[in-house]
Amino acid sequence: RGTGALTPDLAGRHVVISAGGTREPLDPVRYLGNRSSGKQGYALARTAVARGARVTLVAANTALPDPAGAEVVPVGTARELQDAVVKAAIGADVVVMAAAVADFRPAHEVRSKIKKRDGVEPEPVALVRNPDILAQVAARHPARPPVVVGFAAETDDVLAGGRAKLARKGCDLLVVNQVGDGRAFGTEENEAVILEVGGPETPVPYGPKEALADRVWDAVARRLTTA
Ligand code: CTP
Ligand code: CA
Repeated sequence: RGTGALTPDLAGRHVVISAGGTREPLDPVRYLGNRSSGKQGYALARTAVARGARVTLVAANTALPDPAGAEVVPVGTARELQDAVVKAAIGADVVVMAAAVADFRPAHEVRSKIKKRDGVEPEPVALVRNPDILAQVAARHPARPPVVVGFAAETDDVLAGGRAKLARKGCDLLVVNQVGDGRAFGTEENEAVILEVGGPETPVPYGPKEALADRVWDAVARRLTTA
């Protein structure tokens, strides 16, 4: 496990973590959302503080206590999350995208509440793509943070899907967990594999989200010292 204050291996580092799930408005009272609770991102924030980091936590629609010692930036939509993460990433050492970002948003935000009408079926909802924030932060650029970490929830071929996603996103580490059957979303525990560019696959057994967070920081700290 992480040794916390005994070895503040993230001392002097600025880490940016996104957590929670974005909500994309359909009308003033409704949204497209997802089941992310934010618990894994908050566990990453608490453990990073314990290991000496300066932490900016970009929190999308979470209902969790602020981690002591972290700066919390609340956001709602994917585009708000993008603005907050891209701004915080300037000069940061590490960006971890633990948030579940909506891939699509309604093409039109309706300004008044959508009403039903007798005998009339609803219109289909047109969707457009949201920006890929992880790919943007991980893109080769003079100001790219030294270590960029993604998360992926996969339901099918977890390892093959994870390797392909790691390459496609351009990040350094990808934490892959299997979801479905009540796993991961909203639970206290997680099981995952940490994939590394040009490196090993580190399985992390089923256990507290704090334990997975510490294994992620172990891999991050290793890459920071060899960078
Ligand atoms: N992500 C992001 N911006 C998006 C979508 C995803 O930054 N618009 C980030 C997530 O925060 C996560 C990683 O990308 O760290 C992987 O998310 P995932 O949904 O698994 O990947 P996608 O590329 O959206 O692929 P899929 O079609 O499987 O959903
Ligand atoms: Ca997605």
